Amino acid sequence: MSTASMPVVSPATDEVRGISRESGAKPFPFLNLKAQYAEIEESVREAVDRVLKSQIFILGEEVKKFEAEVAGLVETPHAIGCASGSDALLLTLMALGIGPGDEVITTPFTFVATVGAVVRLGARPVFVDIDPATFNIDAAQIESVLSDRTRAIIPVHLFGLPANIGAIMQIAKARNLPVIEDAAQALGARYDGRPVGSFGATGCFSFFPSKNLGGAGDGGLITTGDASLAERLRSLRAHGARNKYHYDMVGINSRLDSLQAAILRAKLPHLDCWSAARRGNAERYRGLFADAGLLDVVTLPSCPAECLHVYNQFTIRSTDRDRLRESLQRRGIPSEIYYPVPLHLQRAFESLGYKKGQFPESESASREVLSLPIDPSLQPQQQAEVVHAVAKFYGR
Ligand SMILES: Cc1ncc(COP(=O)(O)O)c(C=O)c1O
Repeated sequence: MSTASMPVVSPATDEVRGISRESGAKPFPFLNLKAQYAEIEESVREAVDRVLKSQIFILGEEVKKFEAEVAGLVETPHAIGCASGSDALLLTLMALGIGPGDEVITTPFTFVATVGAVVRLGARPVFVDIDPATFNIDAAQIESVLSDRTRAIIPVHLFGLPANIGAIMQIAKARNLPVIEDAAQALGARYDGRPVGSFGATGCFSFFPSKNLGGAGDGGLITTGDASLAERLRSLRAHGARNKYHYDMVGINSRLDSLQAAILRAKLPHLDCWSAARRGNAERYRGLFADAGLLDVVTLPSCPAECLHVYNQFTIRSTDRDRLRESLQRRGIPSEIYYPVPLHLQRAFESLGYKKGQFPESESASREVLSLPIDPSLQPQQQAEVVHAVAKFYGR
């Protein structure tokens, strides 16, 4: 192993905890960005140099080219880079004129940014519980919460698995409601052969470093097929300017840096290959869990036939999740919990008045989910160690 591909976690896990791992293998990280960088270092450095030589750091040609490349990938006419996935959501809601008195339907089992954007604008998030099999919003429950204040629906393609966007688009079209796809975790995922981010009024993407296409810092992007919405979004990300120093509306400062765009352009040609490797790892886990006879004690992620999953996370369920995680930790196996508390029970959203028990599937998912390492550099042997450690916990 070269130093560039050394694990990003502390290598001392076993010694510190006094545990001997049966395999004698080295600890490995949950996400190995150093291994990814070792693969592409030259092209990333070239991209950074190109920008430094140009001394153009805000928007510019790199951002324009990156926007065009992502628009091609997502099969939408327009793509607008911005500072983060959170801002992609916020800018869309601003562009749609959503504010106080408005309701936006979404899921409580998501990253905080989905709901934070709605609340920041004074609108009310109206939660719909998740389908326990997919962790995504249960489309069958959406109609029951529609009201004359509903202004938009935000499905989240959680963990890289498309939400039931076919059914959601039908409900939305019947009422002329915009759908804002939170595709932060799902660049490259497809539903019925069509890329996520191409169905709704907008698709909102994040390039946070842990995403399947991650930058060297924060970054985001909005896709849309609507030319006038695209124009509003371009204006809103630059303080509402239509022409330099002439403002038609109040916007924010949320531009994608040229450096980020150039680095993301260096990584983009690898995305398909990385997503395929993630899917390959997911299939290997399925085989290993089945062979170890663990399918009665853990639930593996489901993937409906119409979906192409990109596995930003491989999230299993266990009714003994906390003890399982502790046991994995003792064996030097990394794991994460996305997300331990659903958003309707977070103090930040207390004033919305939601109560415990209102969204039982989201609440039980929060108690049971455990994400296992899935990144493209993960080795078959490491996956075998993960499954072996789960088997040990269950005494198999
Ligand atoms: C589902 C979801 N929505 C929104 C975001 C926000 O993206 P960012 O971190 O780029 O602001 C994230 C990223 O963490 C996310 O996972």
